[in-house]
Amino acid sequence: MAELVVPHVRYMASFLEALHEGYSRDNLRPETPKSIAEVEADPLAFLDSQLNPPDTFVQPDGSLGQAMPWTALWWVENYRFLGTVHVRHELNESLSRVGGHVGYAMRPSARGQGHASAALAAGLDWIRANLPLKRVLLTVNPSNSHSIRVIQKNGGVHTQTVPHIWRPGEEAMHFWIEL
Ligand SMILES: CC(C)(COP(=O)(O)OP(=O)(O)OC[C@H]1O[C@@H](n2cnc3c(N)ncnc32)[C@H](O)[C@@H]1OP(=O)(O)O)[C@@H](O)C(=O)NCCC(=O)NCCS
Repeated sequence: MAELVVPHVRYMASFLEALHEGYSRDNLRPETPKSIAEVEADPLAFLDSQLNPPDTFVQPDGSLGQAMPWTALWWVENYRFLGTVHVRHELNESLSRVGGHVGYAMRPSARGQGHASAALAAGLDWIRANLPLKRVLLTVNPSNSHSIRVIQKNGGVHTQTVPHIWRPGEEAMHFWIEL
């Protein structure tokens, strides 16, 4: 049975396979042979960056941003990495527009089997147990019907649609889930 876990070296080989398969760590920036090679060159350093996230990060426009505290969780089955749930503990101006509290992605071979819906449900349980949040924001591109369904299946209520801050001409739908 699949479960949500803290990233661990035992899943690292499968994580690297997922990168080659088409799993991307960032919806806005697809992986490249170079970005995958960097993880492969030092998998333990990458793992450490997931367990102890740095407080700055390179934003989609290339500038350096202040990272809000966040937790990386992996959706796994036995030793197989299936996908991620990332939890931002609080919102800043940018995350209030695009990103929200929770982001998730499944590797291509794990899609269409209910994993994202189950992983988000488990992520919401993790938030209930670990953070003082009463409700969480999720944002999604209007064309991402599968993700919209994942959010709705977990009780998400659409409140507004705003211009995308990183992709001119695109929009981000805002959904809130009461915890
Ligand atoms: C969006 C994404 C997370 C969905 O993951 P998933 O594990 O396939 O989702 P689920 O299997 O839980 O399916 C959720 C819904 O999507 C739809 N869906 C999924 N796969 C489908 C398929 N192959 N054909 C038709 N509908 C499909 C279904 O409506 C399903 O709801 P249902 O079970 O009630 O029918 C996955 O496609 C992904 O990782 N995409 C890239 C990253 C991304 O977009 N992340 C979300 C950013 S907001």
